[in-house]
Amino acid sequence: MTRSDNSLTSRSVQIGVGRDEKYGGISFPIYPSATYRHPKVGQSTGYEYARSGNPTRDILEEALADLEGGKRGLAFSSGMAALTTLFLHFSSGDHLVVSEDLYGGTYRVLDQIFAKFGLTCSFVKTSDNQAVAQALTPATKALLVETPGNPLLGITDLRFLAELCQDHHLLLIVDNTFLTPILQQPLKWGADIVVHSATKYLGGHSDLCAGALITRDETLGERLYFLQNSTGAILSPQDCWLLIRSLKTLPLRMERHSSTALKIALWLQNAATGGAGLLSRPE
Ligand SMILES: Cc1ncc(COP(=O)(O)O)c(C=O)c1O
Repeated sequence: MTRSDNSLTSRSVQIGVGRDEKYGGISFPIYPSATYRHPKVGQSTGYEYARSGNPTRDILEEALADLEGGKRGLAFSSGMAALTTLFLHFSSGDHLVVSEDLYGGTYRVLDQIFAKFGLTCSFVKTSDNQAVAQALTPATKALLVETPGNPLLGITDLRFLAELCQDHHLLLIVDNTFLTPILQQPLKWGADIVVHSATKYLGGHSDLCAGALITRDETLGERLYFLQNSTGAILSPQDCWLLIRSLKTLPLRMERHSSTALKIALWLQNAATGGAGLLSRPE
């Protein structure tokens, strides 16, 4: 692992540590309260109502933003809840260019639900830079890519797309579910928004359904928070706590996923080449 990977490891394990100011809990508490008492008329603890904000969710959302290198993180009840809230940012008549190598549920919500409200999409092979450039129309507002794509694992050149988006004043949205911030940080390549199905690697234990949006800048983060608070697909305090707990081991789990996958790939290569392939990783 590189030095920055190590710092991600430390930051992950420290999520919420030192934040329980009242009792010093190393594990940040779950706040199930739906409503909050104000100390005095005109004063607030910062929390009023659970949909609008929750201390446990705040710790998680800060951690998500920190790990992806963004300014604002938002936690949702599923990856589809995060994507649906994100698509509400667009208006009737807007057009998106989207990876054709795309999670089926994302395709379904765009094709069968948002299309009814006039949001149109072109599904293109985003690993082909020219195909993406040619798919832009005067109505295009954003590119949405999965890299690697689900299910074909197509790879998209994020740096090229970020420059394209900058030239055409488009948002670049990257679904980073498969690599997680441990293996890829799209915001650092110039993306504006990162999406996660936290149900997968971020959660990592098949005991949680969750989603996330992370933005590079605060203004866009505030706009998405407005949509999250208005439509309400928030993650529950209990699940926020569970995801915090999961994130603490994310770097270790990704390291093991990667080394195991490499072993399997080498074994398959060896089997396919009848023993003439590499038996171990070249130094
Ligand atoms: C790449 C990708 N994005 C989004 C989703 C949707 O996430 P969820 O199932 O948490 O709603 C999935 C689910 O498999 C996915 O694989």
